Amino acid sequence: MTGKYLTEIEGFTRESGWADPSQASAASRAYAERLEDGNILFLPSLPHAFSPEDLKFLYSLDQDDSAIHKNISYRPKQDILRGFGSSQPEKVETMHRIMREYSAGVVKMMSALLPAYAAKWTLDYASYRPYEEENRDLPLHKRNDLVHTDAFPSRPTHGGLILRCFTNVNPAQPRVWSTTARFPTLAKQYAADAGLPKIVAREASPLRGVRKGLNALKSAVGIKSPNHSAYDLFMLGFHDYLKENTSFQTDAEKFRTDFPPLSTWITFTDVVPHAVLSGRYALEQTFIVPVNALFDASKSPVRVLESIAGTSLVS
Ligand code: SIN
Ligand code: FE
Repeated sequence: MTGKYLTEIEGFTRESGWADPSQASAASRAYAERLEDGNILFLPSLPHAFSPEDLKFLYSLDQDDSAIHKNISYRPKQDILRGFGSSQPEKVETMHRIMREYSAGVVKMMSALLPAYAAKWTLDYASYRPYEEENRDLPLHKRNDLVHTDAFPSRPTHGGLILRCFTNVNPAQPRVWSTTARFPTLAKQYAADAGLPKIVAREASPLRGVRKGLNALKSAVGIKSPNHSAYDLFMLGFHDYLKENTSFQTDAEKFRTDFPPLSTWITFTDVVPHAVLSGRYALEQTFIVPVNALFDASKSPVRVLESIAGTSLVS
């Protein structure tokens, strides 16, 4: 399954790692460079050996189960499950264990595949997406079927990239994505219209010091307020800007990819604009990769935006 922007991983399996260990370092670097170029890496297998009972449990979670929120999420660092408030405690326990094991499996596989990133990444959340994505009725900014780059309101990355490993556990149906030109191209075309100059001007204003002081005060008294850099503010706005931009959504050239049943794909979802058109039963684990872990940081969204803005966007 190799094509434009799609690279099938060869010579590596979850069970045995690299087929030729003497080539591991060069191969791993080559795949990381593909990611930095905006490719999606594809593996025709699962990153974790789910038992048949666990798969059955995942398929049993119903669209109409009001206990499930937009997605079920898992925070590996704190071992916390969110978005699954079933009235049956044993169901919660099973879901929690499956997410814990999936997350650990992905971390192990990704560490073998991309050791240079693993040395520096921060482990972020994992999620389970049980709902059919086609025709989902969600508010515009939450719609998954509109092409967007990712940014998390509650977790600023300060320039770090969002690396995600997706797994389609659906036994029969593919998960269908639509992508378009990569971040450097979109940024050149749309960054100004999406508000980059305004954010830069605000950061340069004397009021910035007052805002920073207020934030420090808030965290001193225990009020949670994520400390967003200019980069984070832009990326949050860009996510919404792309979803709101109807001519971009309808006219931009799109590339469709069908990720088959029981397969895995890995990509930087802030470099690769994406939408999910259909599919259900997918899992995902996120990592934040700092810019200094990249082989070529010049292609990272933060460096691309800084070169357009002519100033630093993270302090
Ligand atoms: C996303 O837009 O980040 C979700 C993609 C997916 O669930 O396949
Ligand atoms: Fe996304």
